[in-house]
Amino acid sequence: MKFEIHKYKEVDSTNEVSKKLALEGAGEGTVVIAERQTHGRGRYGKTWISPVGGVYLSIILKPRIEPEEAPKVTFTAGVSVAKAIRNLYNLDAKIKWPNDVLIKEKKVCGILTEVNATDMLNFVILGIGINANVNTKEFPEEIAKGAISLKEALGKEVDIEEVINEVLNQINEHYSLFKEKKFKTILREWSKLSATLWRKVRIVTKDRVIEGVAVGIDKNGSLIVETPERKIEKVIAGECFHL
Ligand code: BTN
Repeated sequence: MKFEIHKYKEVDSTNEVSKKLALEGAGEGTVVIAERQTHGRGRYGKTWISPVGGVYLSIILKPRIEPEEAPKVTFTAGVSVAKAIRNLYNLDAKIKWPNDVLIKEKKVCGILTEVNATDMLNFVILGIGINANVNTKEFPEEIAKGAISLKEALGKEVDIEEVINEVLNQINEHYSLFKEKKFKTILREWSKLSATLWRKVRIVTKDRVIEGVAVGIDKNGSLIVETPERKIEKVIAGECFHL
């Protein structure tokens, strides 16, 4: 995939800008990068705090898949970011299901995939936010306690361009695998990098809460949880808490 990069000083949300570009006909591989966002979006309607010093990027993708398969794209991105951080800085980056990247159990990267579909999938906006050189201590307390930046983990600033380049390289590599229908390979890598497998977890979905031990992941990326009553539950989407 060839990337066409659009850089901005400030946008509302790189996902929003990318969506507009996609609706105007921008192709796969269009990348929107901003130095800061005024309305960074997180999952579950949350805000993604986006001061200068972070990496905020979104990519337009047009995989030939069913809309239901879109979560697979997010797995591909989670693996890519974790590997980029490992390659560049030798940090022990892990993935919390489905796709938060953690260092020392704290969140360094969040991924928000937004799908545009009629009956078929038109495009996916893959949005990635990385706490690179930000001071997470300055975030609201609720967020600060579970967050970390690369700068904080390393004790020195990182080169933002270097982070962006390595993340894009990794995405290119893993998205190619995905398009070659090798999602199994990506899941195998995900499992190796997982901070969630074999942990006690609480999964909060739209309509229920499941607690148990995360015992595996199925071929679509659903988390398999064994409850204390030895019931096996599969969850395709939800917020995961490590207990
Ligand atoms: C999460 O809740 O963990 C997902 C956070 C995703 C944030 C990124 S920053 C770049 C892109 N633009 C947005 O508005 N959100 C995503």
